[in-house]
Amino acid sequence: MIKHILVTAGPTREKIDPVRYISNYSTGVFGYEIANAAKRRGLSVTLISGPTLLTPPEKVKFVSVESADDMRAAVLKFLNWSDCVIMTAAVADWRPRRSARRKMKKSGARNIELVENPDILAEVGRLKKRRVVVGFALETENLEKNALKKLKDKNLDIIVANRLTSKRNVFGDETLDVVTIDRFGNRTRIFNKDKSKLAKIILDKALKFRIH
Ligand code: CTP
Repeated sequence: MIKHILVTAGPTREKIDPVRYISNYSTGVFGYEIANAAKRRGLSVTLISGPTLLTPPEKVKFVSVESADDMRAAVLKFLNWSDCVIMTAAVADWRPRRSARRKMKKSGARNIELVENPDILAEVGRLKKRRVVVGFALETENLEKNALKKLKDKNLDIIVANRLTSKRNVFGDETLDVVTIDRFGNRTRIFNKDKSKLAKIILDKALKFRIH
């Protein structure tokens, strides 16, 4: 039975200099909804979050992080205590190779060299053991095909795929259309669900998931 759950949420920020960063539009809402729902189900919850405007839920172990490297370190620190991991965070895929210690002056065009960030979810998939691991995929095309590839490549139990279209803003909209795919090939298409109901559905899928 699952007792301890680890949730990642929000964006990460990758520092360019003391006043600038690379990030994305993630609000963190979905991850916080999952953490809240898990707490209401009586689970012990660790929420590792990048910077958001949200108030951390009460009675949840809350770990605030900034960069992908910080998030990775926090996830690896708390992984051993968890028997279910739900990674909703929109981890920035790249970071500047170097971050300047002083504020960069604006004059002239610039190139910033980027390097790839560690894939935290893939690492959790490699260390998974008997944990239930749930990941997310955000795609503009070939939603289910790409999601299935991520499910396999990252050794996940369930992937929740979101379609990003000009009509659907997964970051700002109140409701989402998603497809969930599990490691046995079961697919569920869910349309126009508000984020808090969807969070409960995803959490229940994870809690009921049996590792065969
Ligand atoms: N993720 C992660 N660490 C990263 C990038 C992503 O843990 N460095 C996790 C996210 O939390 C999410 C899942 O991986 O659960 C999918 O992220 P996504 O950006 O959609 O996929 P990528 O594997 O980064 O592939 P791509 O951007 O090429 O589509």
